Amino acid sequence: MDRKLIQKCLFPVAGYGTRFLPATKSMPKEMLPIVNKPLVQYGVEEAIQAGMNNCALVTGRGKRAIADHFDISYELEQQVSGTPKEAFLSGIRNVLDQGIFTMVRQREMLGLGHAILTGEVLIGDQPFGVLLSDDLCINAEKSVLSQMVELYEEFNCSIVAIQEVPMEQVSRYGIVCGDNIRENVIEVREMVEKPKPEEAGSNLAIIGRYILTPDIFEIIKQTEPGANGEVQLTDALNRQVSEGGVVAYKFQGKRFDCGSISGFVEATNYVYENIYKAS
Ligand code: UTP
Repeated sequence: MDRKLIQKCLFPVAGYGTRFLPATKSMPKEMLPIVNKPLVQYGVEEAIQAGMNNCALVTGRGKRAIADHFDISYELEQQVSGTPKEAFLSGIRNVLDQGIFTMVRQREMLGLGHAILTGEVLIGDQPFGVLLSDDLCINAEKSVLSQMVELYEEFNCSIVAIQEVPMEQVSRYGIVCGDNIRENVIEVREMVEKPKPEEAGSNLAIIGRYILTPDIFEIIKQTEPGANGEVQLTDALNRQVSEGGVVAYKFQGKRFDCGSISGFVEATNYVYENIYKAS
C-alpha cells in the first residue's frame, strides 16, 4: 500500500482557549509548552511521523505566534549559531526541514466543523488527517495518527479515535455507539455530541484525532449548527455513517486533555519524568 496516501493534516488552532485565561489572552493556547515544546509542535511531529508532511493550520486572530513558530527566526539562528545552545533548536529545525506549512484564517469561531470547512481550501479533494493539538497523544513506538493511517488503508472511510472515559465525563465529548469489527475497531452506528450521562449509549469518547474523507466538506456545508449553536463535526460524521460508514478506533497509547488545566498539568509531569529527563 502507498504510505504516501494521506499527505495532509489539518490543525484547527483558532479556538479562544478560554479555560486557560488569562494565559491565553494574547498567546495562542496551542503555544502553551509541555515542558519546553509547544503543544502544536507535538502535534505537527506526530503528523509528520505519520507521513503527513503537509500541515494545514486553520488559525485566527491573535495566533500569529503559531505561524512564526513554523518559520525561521534569523536573529535567533545568528545568535545561537556555533554555540552549545544550538542543540535546543535541533527539534524544531527538523520539523521545518520536513514539514510544509500552509495557513488560512477562520474569521468567526463557529466550531470545529466550521474550522474544518475553513481548511478545505488547503486540503482539496483528498483524504486527510485532523489533529487537535490540545489532545496530546503519546506512543513511543507508533504515533496514534500512524495507527489510524493503517486503518484507513484497510477500510477506506473516515476514522475517529476513541477512548473510554468515566461515565460522568461523557457530556464533554462526542460519544460513539457501534458494533465491534474486532478488538479496538468499531463500526459506528451513531455519534452523539455531548450527551447527558443518562442518555449516552456508551462511554466511548471521540478524541482529537481523525482521518476524514473529503466528502466531509460538502456534508458540513449542509449541516445546520447543532449543540452550542456551533457547526458540529459529529453531526457531519453521522451523515457519513449512513452514507458509507465510519470506523472508530480505540488507539494504543496515552492521551492527555491539555485543553483542561488538570490534563495539562498531568501531561507536564508525565513528559518531564518520562521523556524530557530521559533525553
Ligand atoms: P475547544 O473547544 O477544545 O477549544 O476546541 P477552545 O474553544 O479553544 O477552548 P476553550 O473551551 O475555550 O478553553 C477544540 C479544538 O478546535 C479548535 C480549537 O483551537 C481546539 O484546538 N477550534 C474550535 C477552532 O479552530 N475553531 C473553532 O471555532 C472552535
